[in-house]
Amino acid sequence: MKVIGICGSPRKGNTEWMLRKLLEKVAEEGARTELILLREKQIKGCDGCLTCEVGGSQRKGLCRIQDDMQMIYPKLMEADGFAFGTPVYFDMLSGLLKNFMDRTCPIWPHLESKPVVGVVVAEAGIGQAVANLKAYAGICSMRWVGQVTTLAKKPREVARDADVELRLERLGRKLVRSLKA
Ligand SMILES: Cc1cc2nc3c(=O)[nH]c(=O)nc-3n(C[C@H](O)[C@H](O)[C@H](O)COP(=O)(O)O)c2cc1C
Repeated sequence: MKVIGICGSPRKGNTEWMLRKLLEKVAEEGARTELILLREKQIKGCDGCLTCEVGGSQRKGLCRIQDDMQMIYPKLMEADGFAFGTPVYFDMLSGLLKNFMDRTCPIWPHLESKPVVGVVVAEAGIGQAVANLKAYAGICSMRWVGQVTTLAKKPREVARDADVELRLERLGRKLVRSLKA
């Protein structure tokens, strides 16, 4: 069983901290984990060519854009569960995470039925960010397992939230249970 975390923050901040705590618990519960920091990857924008929709390319996970998504596609297809993490930007998910999601066009049918959780952090209000994550999960027919949201501004400020770690651990445990369901 393997869970992949996708971090949509462009900095080493609260989202990454939350995902690491969640994945620590997931690992403790016996699943393998990997954290993909989108900020470290070269991922171009989807150019809308839609060649991924013809000739069975989607089944094979083929995209004509040659960048770091090429090594991420097989990982996504093989993973059993996911944790999406995003800071709130203008009441929505971050552009970094949305860009990644657009580029999953060649493989999204492979995500069907896989459980997914979200971690979301904002300075003042979560806005539509959780709804954004759920919309993506819904379109991909993934199983939404739950989310942890919190408020923080500066990097690592999230650690001040007394019970956020507990909530992340609980969500991690729930995610592992849902892998087995
Ligand atoms: C471009 C930008 C837009 C933001 N928009 C919002 C917002 O709409 N609402 C909010 O509460 N916080 C907003 N924030 C604050 C971040 O969500 C907050 O600093 C968060 O802790 C960042 O997470 P990170 O440390 O993982 O990058 C914004 C920050 C940036 C840089």
